[in-house]
Amino acid sequence: MASIFFSPSLSSASPLSTPSFQPRSHLHLQPRSCRFGVRCSYVDAGVRDDYAPNTIDVVADVKSEKVVVLGGSGFVGSAICKAAISKGIEVVSVSRSGRPSNTSSWVDQVTWVPGDVFYLNWDDVLVGATAVVSTIGGFGSEEQMKRINGDANIAAVNAAYDFGIPKFVLISVHDYNLPSFLLSSSYFTGKRQAESEVLSKFPRSGVVLRPAFIYGKRRVDGFEIPLDLVGEPVEKFLSVFGNFIKPLSSVPASDIFLAPPVSVDDLALATINAITDDDVFGVFTIEQIKEAAAKVRA
Ligand SMILES: NC(=O)c1ccc[n+]([C@@H]2O[C@H](COP(=O)([O-])OP(=O)(O)OC[C@H]3O[C@@H](n4cnc5c(N)ncnc54)[C@H](OP(=O)(O)O)[C@@H]3O)[C@@H](O)[C@H]2O)c1
Repeated sequence: MASIFFSPSLSSASPLSTPSFQPRSHLHLQPRSCRFGVRCSYVDAGVRDDYAPNTIDVVADVKSEKVVVLGGSGFVGSAICKAAISKGIEVVSVSRSGRPSNTSSWVDQVTWVPGDVFYLNWDDVLVGATAVVSTIGGFGSEEQMKRINGDANIAAVNAAYDFGIPKFVLISVHDYNLPSFLLSSSYFTGKRQAESEVLSKFPRSGVVLRPAFIYGKRRVDGFEIPLDLVGEPVEKFLSVFGNFIKPLSSVPASDIFLAPPVSVDDLALATINAITDDDVFGVFTIEQIKEAAAKVRA
């Protein structure tokens, strides 16, 4: 990451800003940030050279981020890859289909690895990574949903943990106020199991983002489905009238209509915030996703 800041003292970093990983096993670890001293001279600034002292020592922290996006070819994953590239972050995507057909220029800057998280040679993709983001998830039979939402993500969390990756970000789902027979479907139980794995293996750096409906332009078989035509007006409506209809939120399953949609670009920016800020960890609600996105956009 191309952010440079000057720090008066190397020892002044707060405990939270210190990467929380401890070397575990064989390590191919890369430092999360590399520090070097920079000698600055007043002379270049037009100040007389004989004025003493004529130099100051500062320490620059140069962060070089490399993110591995699991499912980078998907709807949310593509937006995350694109946003990361635009922020100067190195990106590797892993998905069974590999490189998408999308011809946008950012696509050429991503390293597309075709692979299934259940059979992946993690050493090949995780070397040098500073964060892993998983967008893997979806619908299907109970067995398929357990496998894709739960098992696949749990396998990824453990691979990242064993490798000593400092940060893991999981794209999960909103905590809907649905009846328990729906919440006990493997879609939701799988997601919550994966969340628990992230939070227990990465207690001081893991991030779980919980969006409801995500809108944007979804590409399916070369066609664009403009989900924003629905999502954007609903989001605006709820942001204006949300307070008036708040009492309805106690009605079971009302979240289906009342949980605000999130734009795929906001979700991507919230992910960038999670990747680049060592102080960010824990579970993020829809509102917090939007706040984090606004922080990055500002
Ligand atoms: N879309 C929404 O409105 C919404 C709302 C709330 C939460 N979410 C959650 O957000 C996440 C992303 O959703 P999305 O709409 O972007 O889904 P998506 O378009 O289906 O993307 C899923 C990605 O995961 C990859 N993948 C699936 N199984 C894999 C495996 N075994 N190994 C490697 N890669 C695998 C897919 O590529 P391959 O098939 O080529 O492997 C694809 O790139 C999901 O977890 C979803 O549950 C979505």
